[in-house]
Amino acid sequence: MKPGPSLMKHYLQFKDLRAEEYAYLFERARIIKTRFKNYERYQPLADRTLAMIFEKASTRTRVSFEAGMYQMGGSVVHLTTGDSQLGRAEPIEDSARVISRMVDLVMIRTYEHTKLEAFAAHSRVPVINGLTNEYHPCQILADIFTYIEHRGSIQGKTVAWVGDGNNMANTWLQAADILGFTLHVSTPSGYEIDPKMAGVSNPDCVKIFRNPFSACQGAHLVTTDVWTSMGYEAENEARKKAFADWCVDVQMMATAQPDALFMHCLPAHRGEEVAAEVIDGPQSVVWDEAENRMHVQKALMEYLLIGRIG
Ligand code: CP
Ligand code: NVA
Repeated sequence: MKPGPSLMKHYLQFKDLRAEEYAYLFERARIIKTRFKNYERYQPLADRTLAMIFEKASTRTRVSFEAGMYQMGGSVVHLTTGDSQLGRAEPIEDSARVISRMVDLVMIRTYEHTKLEAFAAHSRVPVINGLTNEYHPCQILADIFTYIEHRGSIQGKTVAWVGDGNNMANTWLQAADILGFTLHVSTPSGYEIDPKMAGVSNPDCVKIFRNPFSACQGAHLVTTDVWTSMGYEAENEARKKAFADWCVDVQMMATAQPDALFMHCLPAHRGEEVAAEVIDGPQSVVWDEAENRMHVQKALMEYLLIGRIG
């Protein structure tokens, strides 16, 4: 049975859930991951269908949602702009009305966040953000779960963001606000973050640094992302020049805590935003981070479709 409208939750931005809901989700992700590692069958989503709509490319998001849904006993429908009427200008509202009458859950990767919001506003079923130009909440869910696995609670810690003030940076901002850690941000000028747009309520959770080395100083986690996100390819050459000093290398990592972790949502460009020695080095947890997309999203899908277990 589909949840009634009053019970229905979407996951469009990190701030759509509260700190205590995140605590629950991280614990569910831990349990679900342990079951998966022990080859235990866990199929609470039997007969449920997830529609995945991709208007941009993906490896991790597609595989993690698709494999995760099958593991939980459900099935998936995969749509892209090129092979659906979405690419032939059918209004997003009409697509939402139709698709959400046939499936139980929808994941969308698209351009403007407003498009995702328009879909959600006309959907009968929960909608999950699989990345928009502005936000990538499922990735930060995985990143924080990965931090907790390696180092325990992130509350009170310092995370350094080096690079573009993009969808990942905006989502880190919301996470710092909700989960009580400090975000150090260093972006080249012209590529700054906007805490107001991200709806950050506690201005003290973010500190801005011109110099990326200063941003990393004392950080418990250093993280970055590509210089040019999907949809901004026309700016590639200008960005390569602007971001040249925003490469996380061994010297930059050395200014962070001695046991600092390195994360990157991937795909990565070695020699641009990160040095090979860092992403392939001992402080990097990028492969755990990528795998954890699947475990946290299984917990998220369970939560949106069934609610709390136990
Ligand atoms: N990190 C991430 O979302 O990867 P994909 O673009 O491969 O889905
Ligand atoms: N900021 C990147 C993340 C890719 C997973 C992009 O939007 O392309």
